[in-house]
Amino acid sequence: MKSKVSIGVAGLGFGLEFAAIYCDHPDVDKVAICTRNPGTLKNAGEMLGIPEELRFTDFDRMAECEELDAIHVITPIAEHYPQTMKALREGKHTACTVPMALTVDELKDIVQASREAGKIYTMMETSLYTREYLYVKKLRDEGKLGRIQYVYGDHMQNMSLEGWGGYWQGFPQFWYGTHVLSPLLDIVGTKAQSVRCLGSGRVLPERAEVYGCKYAVETATFRLKDSDVVAEAHRCLFDTIRQCREGFNVYGDKLSFEWEDTLDEGHTLYMGIDDFEKITAPDAVDNLPEAIRKYAYRENLKDPNQPSCIQGMGHGGSHPQLCHEFVRAILEKREPYMSATRSANYTVAGICAQESAFKDGEEVPVPDFDELFPEPLEFC
Ligand SMILES: NC(=O)c1ccc[n+]([C@@H]2O[C@H](COP(=O)([O-])OP(=O)(O)OC[C@H]3O[C@@H](n4cnc5c(N)ncnc54)[C@H](O)[C@@H]3O)[C@@H](O)[C@H]2O)c1
Repeated sequence: MKSKVSIGVAGLGFGLEFAAIYCDHPDVDKVAICTRNPGTLKNAGEMLGIPEELRFTDFDRMAECEELDAIHVITPIAEHYPQTMKALREGKHTACTVPMALTVDELKDIVQASREAGKIYTMMETSLYTREYLYVKKLRDEGKLGRIQYVYGDHMQNMSLEGWGGYWQGFPQFWYGTHVLSPLLDIVGTKAQSVRCLGSGRVLPERAEVYGCKYAVETATFRLKDSDVVAEAHRCLFDTIRQCREGFNVYGDKLSFEWEDTLDEGHTLYMGIDDFEKITAPDAVDNLPEAIRKYAYRENLKDPNQPSCIQGMGHGGSHPQLCHEFVRAILEKREPYMSATRSANYTVAGICAQESAFKDGEEVPVPDFDELFPEPLEFC
C-alpha cells in the first residue's frame, strides 16, 4: 500500500490555495499544477517550488500523467463535468470544487464513472468543513440541540460587481446552491425529497438573457426524506444589496444556533427564550497534521499569500480539512465523507430547486442517488 499520494491541481485562482496546502501535506508526494495561462503557471510553479515537468497548460495531459494518483479540479464551472469525467476515466481519484455539475444526467455520469474506475469522486464542499458547521455538528452529535424542528439558510452574495468572471453573470442561483443546502441537509442527516422554489425581483435584462434566469432572489422550501423537518433556503447572486452571507440556522427544542447577520458580530446560541449568548466557533485543527494547521487559523486569513482564503468570508478554515479528508480517504481506500452519492444528493437538491423556480414554484421530486447507485464503491 502506498504511503503517499501525488496530486494534480487544475485552476490556479481559488485553486492556488489548495495547491499550497497539498505541497505542505506530509502524506502528499508530488504536486502538479495546471492552468491555461503560461505566465500564471510559471509564477505559481516558482512560488510553490514545483518542477517544470509537473506544470501543465493542458488539462488532458495532466490527467494522463502516470506519476499522479489524483486530480483536484478548481476551474470555471463549465469545465467541472468534462474535466471530472476525463480524470476518472484516466483512473485518477478526483475531487472537484462546487458545483459538481449542472444537470441530473451529468451527476449520474460522474457517479457511474467513479464506480467504473474504482476511484474516489468527491465534491469539495467548503460549507461542511467550516469551524462553525463543525461546532454545530458536534452539538448535534452530543444531543445538545435536542430534536431538530426547522433548518434555514441563506447564501446572499452580490456578483454584479466587476472582478467576477463573465460566466458568473446571470448564473441561475440554485445551480450554485450547495453552500446553503449542504449544511441544512447534513445537519438533519438526510436528503431532499421534493422542492418548491419561487423567484423574487428581477436582475438586469442583460444578465437574465445569459442563462434565462430573471430572478434576483430565489426561495426554496424542501421536504426531507424520512424526516418531518422542512428546510428553507434563500439564494441571491446579483442586483441585490447586502453584505455576503453564507450561513445556516438550526432550531432544536433544547438549543438553537443562528448565523450572524453581519461579519464578525458573532453567532447566537439560544438556550432559552431570552437566554442566549454570542459565540465564536473555535478553530478546528485537532485532526489536521501540524504542517497544514496554519491554513485553518482565523488570524491567518489576511495573509496576502492566501488570497482565496479571504473570499466567502474565509470559508471557515475548511480548505485544509477538505485536502486532508481527500488525501486520507485515498490512502485508507475508503469513501470520503462527501462520497460521490452524497455529493450528488446535495447538488441535485439545488438543480431541482432551480427547475422549480423556472416552473414558477411547481413541486419537483428530487432523485435519490443512494437508490440509483446502491452498490458501494469497489476500489481498484
Ligand atoms: N467556497 C467554494 O467552494 C468556492 C469559492 C470560490 C470559487 N469556487 C469555485 O472554484 C472555481 C474556480 O474559481 P476561481 O474564482 O478561481 O475562478 P477563475 O475563473 O478566477 O479561475 C479559474 C482558473 O482556472 C484556469 N482555467 C480555466 N480553464 C481552464 C482549463 N480548461 N484548463 C486548465 N485551467 C483552466 C484559469 O486559468 C484560472 O487559473 C469555480 O468553479 C468556483 O465555483 C468555490
